[in-house]
Amino acid sequence: MRNIFSGYCCSLCGTCYGPDEIQYTCPKDGGNLDVLLDTSAINKKYRIEDITSRTDFSLWRYAPLLPVDDPGGEGTPLRTAGWTPVYSPKELANKLGLQNLWIKDEGRNPTASFKDRASAVVVARARQIFADVVVTASTGNAGAALAGMAAAIGQKAVIFAPKSAPPAKIAQLLIYGAKVILVDGNYDQAFDLTVQAANEFGWYCRNTGYNPFTAEGKKTAAFEIWEQILLNSDAAETPLSIFVSVGDGNIISGIHKGFKDLASLGWLEKMPRIFGIQSEASAAVANAFAAGTEQITPVRATTIADSISVDLPRDGVRAVRAATQTGGAYLTVKDEEILRAIPELGRVGIFAEPAGATAYAGLLKALRDGKISAEDPVVVLNTGNGLKDVRAAMQAAGEAVIIEPTMPALKKLLQVNSI
Ligand SMILES: Cc1ncc(COP(=O)(O)O)c(C=O)c1O
Repeated sequence: MRNIFSGYCCSLCGTCYGPDEIQYTCPKDGGNLDVLLDTSAINKKYRIEDITSRTDFSLWRYAPLLPVDDPGGEGTPLRTAGWTPVYSPKELANKLGLQNLWIKDEGRNPTASFKDRASAVVVARARQIFADVVVTASTGNAGAALAGMAAAIGQKAVIFAPKSAPPAKIAQLLIYGAKVILVDGNYDQAFDLTVQAANEFGWYCRNTGYNPFTAEGKKTAAFEIWEQILLNSDAAETPLSIFVSVGDGNIISGIHKGFKDLASLGWLEKMPRIFGIQSEASAAVANAFAAGTEQITPVRATTIADSISVDLPRDGVRAVRAATQTGGAYLTVKDEEILRAIPELGRVGIFAEPAGATAYAGLLKALRDGKISAEDPVVVLNTGNGLKDVRAAMQAAGEAVIIEPTMPALKKLLQVNSI
């Protein structure tokens, strides 16, 4: 076990546990566990330069800040999760009236979503504790990520997903060779079934938020934002504002955890403001934020953005805190705004699935509401690739024209429609 991993503390009651005392959530109140790192041990061994000079351009670059042993798997997709590109589309920034805009494209991960970060670290943990089978409930992406990362190193994976998941996501699960079980119910029901199955059959459960190592994987995106943007820009006066879509709330809390780790290492000058974006049709966390409470009341989620369609967010409390503790906020957007955001991102070469485009739709709303102004440096996370949900992309894009394969037909068309 890595010596920097010093245990867990419950995010609700604050009870702390040793690294071997507990596996998933707090036995007292079911609260999600924060992983504790021995930051003074890290500080003794590493300076910022020791991290930023590493030649591994993946999330494993941050292995010294992760509570798992290096899983090996060189030459496989497991080694290429993370270190996703950061774009700074100037024309889009000008159009929005922003001085600095970055878009970090998580669709460039090996299985095409942010979820590879969590799955890579959970697979490493599974290997370390000699777990034979890893199981997860998923709206699609977490499962594809687990299936892909597990396949990369010959680990067995079982995925429970709602039968309504987009076909491309289901195909991906099957192609990676996972045992795929589609549930005639929603994500929340799949989640509960997965926990029961893991307990009964002794499988290692990756469920988002329930497994404390998912947030540890997701925090690597914060490390990258820090290294790719914050360390490279002339210390802006105003803090960075980060826009991220929220379903269970584990991506946003993972990102918050990453920045908190950097702050406790003394490596972060200014905590970024974190903005969580939800669809109006799946807004349990945003509702709690608006009501000024950490109490999460379940909703009946119906959003088109399937990846963030969640009745009861499993990491809701920490997700609320990610905004309240950083001076950020929650915003909700309509599904039509999400669909409109997809081709807008497409026009700068970024193809997002609905949940990914949700963060950008949230930025547009924050600009309209005056929550973001010209001098605020902004990062938008596209959390998933558009090919994950072609049905939604087609809905957003409309139909292509069809013509006879002749020049006259083409010329006729061009008279009506310019290029
Ligand atoms: C593409 C995409 N975006 C956003 C999210 C939301 O992440 P979380 O459920 O951790 O809030 C997910 C979760 O599945 C996702 O797949």
